[in-house]
Amino acid sequence: KSVQVIGVPLDLGVSKLGVDMGPTALRYAGIFEALRYAGIDYRDAGDIDVLRNFSLDPLSPAEREQAKLREIIRTSETLARFTAKAIEDGHMPIVLGGDHSTAIGSVAGAAKARGRIGLIWIDAHPDANTPETSPSGNVHGMPLAISLGHGMPELVNCLGFAPKVRPEDVCIVGAKDIDPEERKFLTRMGIRMFTTFDIENRGLARVMQEAVDVVSRGTNGVYVSFDADVMDKRVAPGTGITTRGGLTYREISFIMRSIGAGVELIGFDIIEVNPLLDKANGTAELCVELAMAMLGVKYTDYEKKYLASN
Ligand code: ARG
Ligand code: MN
Ligand code: MN
Ligand code: MN
Repeated sequence: KSVQVIGVPLDLGVSKLGVDMGPTALRYAGIFEALRYAGIDYRDAGDIDVLRNFSLDPLSPAEREQAKLREIIRTSETLARFTAKAIEDGHMPIVLGGDHSTAIGSVAGAAKARGRIGLIWIDAHPDANTPETSPSGNVHGMPLAISLGHGMPELVNCLGFAPKVRPEDVCIVGAKDIDPEERKFLTRMGIRMFTTFDIENRGLARVMQEAVDVVSRGTNGVYVSFDADVMDKRVAPGTGITTRGGLTYREISFIMRSIGAGVELIGFDIIEVNPLLDKANGTAELCVELAMAMLGVKYTDYEKKYLASN
């Protein structure tokens, strides 16, 4: 198995600054060292060239909104082509975000390469808003709806086809902050959602069995979009919207290992890591560890070799 890492320093889908530094934080957290110690071949494709929030400052508010949308569209197309190519060439893409609008492109690319894919959305938020329902107007709250074919047409039609995934092949894990209109949309679409309440109520092992089943049945592999804000803020402070009552270390590592063991993994995103809000890059380091768990690397193997040497 070989991995292609691509950074997407995209911060145009949010208002808080710093998430464009996510790819750098994840590299400095040792993602390549961890891959190397695990014996996994990798290539770093670098970062996609994308306009940052700060460079739009001179524009008027209206111009800024237009420029942001145009740039998110362009970045999604570029990332989608990269992701599709990596998969077609037999590699597993690991996409380092960036805010969650990054997933518009990565999911598009995975669907382009594999056709019918399963999608696991690990997030405190379902990100299933449309411009009509969004309370914030932020595009990072919309990528799941977009992948399902709902939202701004220029984003829905990324790579020229839509939708990217079928509702019955999607599941959300770890959601806890769900907007009312978003909930209606998900119910209408019949999306399986496992909230933090379901995890407490039914037990995580059973939830993960069902989640793996939903995304695997009838699909040609599974793509995972992992938003760091699914974790409790005391576990992972380095993200834009921190969550109280989010997942514990134990829960999120179990989720990652269940996915690694249970699905045919196409690739994944690590999203919303913001080093400006982090403590000594701890959230990024945790995300690297979780990525290894999803890749099926036994923690003890690289803990002994890599973490011990660190
Ligand atoms: N539901 C809220 C919104 O639409 C929050 C979305 C948070 N998304 C994220 N990727 N962190 O604005
Ligand atoms: Mn998200
Ligand atoms: Mn989120
Ligand atoms: Mn299914």
